[in-house]
Amino acid sequence: MSLVQHIMRPCNFGIATILNAFGGATRQVSDKVLHVIDYSNCAPALDRANLLRRFATVATEAPQSQKTLPPQPVAPQPGLKLRISSDAFESGLSHPNYSDVYLDGVRPTHLKPEKLYQHVGLRTIQVARWMFDYLTGYGPDMTEVQWLQRMIFLETVAGVPGMVAGMLRHLKSLRTMQRDQGWIHTLLEEAENERMHLLTFFELRKPGPLFRASVIAAQGVFFNAYFLAYLLSPRTCHAFIGFLEEEAVKTYTHALEEIDAGRLWKDMPAPAIAVQYWGLQQDATMRELILAVRADEACHAHVNHTLSKLKADEVNPFATGASQLP
Ligand SMILES: [Fe+2]
Ligand SMILES: [Fe+2]
Repeated sequence: MSLVQHIMRPCNFGIATILNAFGGATRQVSDKVLHVIDYSNCAPALDRANLLRRFATVATEAPQSQKTLPPQPVAPQPGLKLRISSDAFESGLSHPNYSDVYLDGVRPTHLKPEKLYQHVGLRTIQVARWMFDYLTGYGPDMTEVQWLQRMIFLETVAGVPGMVAGMLRHLKSLRTMQRDQGWIHTLLEEAENERMHLLTFFELRKPGPLFRASVIAAQGVFFNAYFLAYLLSPRTCHAFIGFLEEEAVKTYTHALEEIDAGRLWKDMPAPAIAVQYWGLQQDATMRELILAVRADEACHAHVNHTLSKLKADEVNPFATGASQLP
C-alpha cells in the first residue's frame, strides 16, 4: 500500500461513516414527514397509509353528518409538486399542482372557533381586516388599480408568517439539537408561495415610493409582532393565519365574481411569471390566475388550522408539497 493510500484510508472510512449516518438521518426524516421522494422524477410520492392515520387528527373539522363515515382517502391533490426547471427564474421552487375540478370547487370556509387560542386568532384577524378594509376603501366598486394595490400590499405581509415560524423552528432545532418533526419545509413553502403571489401581481402594477415606504413600515411592525407572538403561542399564531387565509379566500372569491361580471380584468392575459409558476395554459387569463391564487390560500387556511391543533413537538402531517383538504 502506497503512502498516499495509507493517508487516504482513514479519510475514506470517515467519509463512509458520515455518509452512512447522513443516509440514516435522511431515512428517519422521510419517515417523520410521512413521504418518500422518488428521485427518478423529482416528485414526492405520498405514503398514503401513514397519511390516513394522521388524517384522523384533522377529521375533527368535518361536519357532524360526516363524522360517522370512515376516513376518506386523502389524495395528494391539491398540493405542490417539486419541479426542477433549467430556466427557472428562482431555482428549486415548488410549483402548485391543482386539478380544474378543485380550482372551481374552492369556496370560502370557516372553522368554528372552540378553544381560547382560536377565539383570540379570529378576533384579532376580524379587527385587523375591519381596519384595513376601512382605511383602503374595500368594497363592491373597486377599480383594477385598487384591487392590485390591495393584493400587492397584503401579499407583502402574507409572506412573513411562514418564514418567521420556519426560522424560529429552525433556530430551536439548532439550539436544542433536536429534530423539527417536519414542520419547517411546510412553513417555508407557504412563505415562498405568498412571495410568488406578490411577484405575480407586481408584474401588473409597479408601486410608487409612498406605497413602498408603507410596505417597509408594515413589515417592520408585523415581522417583530409575529416573531414575539410565535415565541409566546405558536398555536394561536397558526390559528390567526388560518383565519387570515379564510379571509383571503373570501376576497379572491369576490375578485372572481367581479371578473365574471365583466368589471375586472376583462379577458386580460395572466402574466408570464404566473404561467410558468402555476403551469397555466399559455393563453391563460387573469381568471385562471385568481383561481390558482385562491386555491393556494385555501390550502394555507387548512394547513394552519391543522398545525394550530398540534403540539409543537408533534409530527407535521403534511408531506412536503402537500396540503390536502378534508
Ligand atoms: Fe397570498
Ligand atoms: Fe395565503
